[in-house]
Amino acid sequence: MPSGKLITIEGLDGAGKTTLAQGLIRELGARMKPGAPPPELLREPGGVELSERIRELVKDPAMRVGARAEALLYAAARAQLVEELLTPLLAAGTTVLLDRFVDSSLAYQGAARGLGIEAVRAINALATGGLTPDRTLLLRVSPGTGRERQSERGREPDRLEREGNDFFAAIASAYDELAGAEPRRIRTIDAEQASQAVLAAALAELEDLF
Ligand code: TMP
Repeated sequence: MPSGKLITIEGLDGAGKTTLAQGLIRELGARMKPGAPPPELLREPGGVELSERIRELVKDPAMRVGARAEALLYAAARAQLVEELLTPLLAAGTTVLLDRFVDSSLAYQGAARGLGIEAVRAINALATGGLTPDRTLLLRVSPGTGRERQSERGREPDRLEREGNDFFAAIASAYDELAGAEPRRIRTIDAEQASQAVLAAALAELEDLF
């Protein structure tokens, strides 16, 4: 049975994930074997209707959301994406580039919200049925750079972007720990560099998959 590769992109808000994803989808498309399905770009939370609606809820600054509910909402969005779209795409041999996945929940809800990495890992094992990325690209920027790039976007910050410096510092160090524990899967990229250099580094980290 053909199985496409699942590549996830992780990092702080403002790390440059969206820019990298757009560059990568173009480059990966050009590298696919003739006749192979084109790669798909998806984001979390989102990608299917239920998950896009959950996205609106979790981002709404007017919404009261406790830490446990937050972790479960992200996991619910993920469960639906996995079942409705991700699993069928991978089974059809499609390479999927996914902007955030379980590692975001481990860093944001597990570490920064204080729920504990292992508790959040457990609810996500249920949500994903154990689906694990073939490779994860961690875009590493300082929390200060992330904050600066976010404010350059010139739109109102969402519910999570309104959190303080301690929150983002906890996420950054959790990501570093996750990468240290799984160096084969998680490849750290210096995302303080210009976007072209980040794209080149990302492609180098994916070379052995194709
Ligand atoms: P983004 O698409 O702009 O990155 O927005 C998603 C926001 O949700 C971002 O602030 C990170 C946060 N998030 C979590 O806290 N946990 C998760 O599991 C995911 C996927 C995202």
